[in-house]
Amino acid sequence: MLYPCKSIAMSTLPRLILATRNAHKTAEIRAMIGDRFEVLNATAFPDFPEIEETGTTFLENAQLKAEGISCHIDGWVLSDDSGLEVDALDGAPGVWSSSYGGEEGNHAKNNARLLLEMAQETERAARFRCTMVLARGGKAQAHFSGTVEGRLVEKLNGTNGFGYDPLFIPNGFDLTFGELGDEIKNSLSHRSRALGQVVAYLNKQGLK
Ligand code: IMP
Repeated sequence: MLYPCKSIAMSTLPRLILATRNAHKTAEIRAMIGDRFEVLNATAFPDFPEIEETGTTFLENAQLKAEGISCHIDGWVLSDDSGLEVDALDGAPGVWSSSYGGEEGNHAKNNARLLLEMAQETERAARFRCTMVLARGGKAQAHFSGTVEGRLVEKLNGTNGFGYDPLFIPNGFDLTFGELGDEIKNSLSHRSRALGQVVAYLNKQGLK
């Protein structure tokens, strides 16, 4: 009997290590640049430390994560700190988006609190913001930001994406990110806008 040769997958693409264990962020970044970079995240490196996000801005937290991971590995490390800013809530949940409902990373609780806080509110403008930091050798080298403006709806709509996606309609659309799907989200999101600048920067550094 003939068996197919076992091939060992070795990427020839330049490697980019994400300073996150967040599967959703990783999947989005991979979908956007996975054909040009070998995108690995911190789950591939069990020895990487857990970085505490003690900053009070997206940039501070992104810098903490990128520098905290990049001193443990050679090469480019990319962090993403992001969140939702709501005008009627004076910019909340902002930097604290991932624990707004009282439990870190619990999207259902975060959305439930947001719906409650916004229940009587007619001013529904909001934006997603993403700050990315590129680091090498434990030092931040550059930072990039992207935003997408939009408005909040009054009940959860759609199951695509993650986090606050089912509550957020980007300007120019009538559907939430949860309904629009990955392709449209990745063409205009805060993350894609920051990532476009990251790729341009890395290309200038000779990484293609
Ligand atoms: P971080 O891990 O501290 O950057 O927190 C990110 C949090 O912001 C997530 O847990 C979500 O609550 C929210 N968030 C960031 N980006 C998105 C997005 O693309 N869609 C929906 N929610 C997001």
